Amino acid sequence: MYLKNAWYCVSWDKDLKDQPLGIKILGQKLLIFRKQDGSVAALDAVCPHRYAPLHKGRLENDILQCPYHGLEFNSEGRCTLNPHGDVIPPNANLRSYPAVVQNLAVWVWMGDPDKADPSLLLEEQDWTSSDKFARGYGYTHVRGNYQLAIDNLLDLTHGPYVHVGGFGQEPRKMGLKYPMNHEFFVEDRKVHSRYYRENWRTNLFFRPFFPHDYCDQTTFMCLHQPSNLTLDITVLEVGAENGLPSEFIAPSFHFITPETETTAHYFYAAGHNKLIDDKTVTAKMMEGVRVAFEDEDEVMIRDVQEAMESTDLLSLKPAILESDIAGVTARKMLAKMIAEE
Ligand code: FES
Ligand SMILES: [Fe+2]
Repeated sequence: MYLKNAWYCVSWDKDLKDQPLGIKILGQKLLIFRKQDGSVAALDAVCPHRYAPLHKGRLENDILQCPYHGLEFNSEGRCTLNPHGDVIPPNANLRSYPAVVQNLAVWVWMGDPDKADPSLLLEEQDWTSSDKFARGYGYTHVRGNYQLAIDNLLDLTHGPYVHVGGFGQEPRKMGLKYPMNHEFFVEDRKVHSRYYRENWRTNLFFRPFFPHDYCDQTTFMCLHQPSNLTLDITVLEVGAENGLPSEFIAPSFHFITPETETTAHYFYAAGHNKLIDDKTVTAKMMEGVRVAFEDEDEVMIRDVQEAMESTDLLSLKPAILESDIAGVTARKMLAKMIAEE
């Protein structure tokens, strides 16, 4: 089940060069390409003649040529040339989709094109263009329903169990209670899940930027329905006020795009406000993030998906913990939005 009238991330802007890119989202094969004016075209990626993959075709002057028998299509999907006859059948056209670039990413609107609403895009975030931040990017293919990836991000209590080595946290001792300083609220299409941690062991990835063993850390996760999350982490010296020069800020994006009912695309990007000219430090941070997502979270999500044998978590009547409040609320909200659509 997907919400169609929504913007979904299909690529990082920097990865869309002079060749078309193919991607399956919401069960449909799409292609995107950069037009000569710098804007982006999004079209169905399957040729209506004999179903060849059009993203493997040749692109010239905003015209895409099918790699099989050479039908040509413009950036609106209209078939402009049949090299083998005078007639272009009416069903030789491709569906096109509204596409825009915002927040370092390319977004496609999968629903009714007349309803494509730029105000529903995630608002432009300062750190994506500010010279006070360095940035890195990544992508992970997730072998689970997209909502499992969202649950994983809205409920960060999994950290000390799933990310034991990577984040430098100690494994939780058996029988220990986990202190929950969690705040949750809903605002329009947003679900906020915020963690406040005092005297917290500094995450290993943050040590180069913040060389103290312990810190006060705020971790603000926000889901922008249906499936795009922002995470803003602030690290302070224990007991310090916000805004001191030592304050370390790490904002990040977690854009989840359903691929099929049981797989998803996970586009992530992160910034940091310290050591911004040191590219090796950015690369190291991004590698740490990749390991956490790809080798730890994703493996758990895949195992969970396999065990569930379903994509409708709530219909299985799982045990619900207090810490599930954001994830469960997000699921109920989205189910309502999909039903209304
Ligand atoms: S499959 Fe595309 S032109 Fe034949
Ligand atoms: Fe995680």
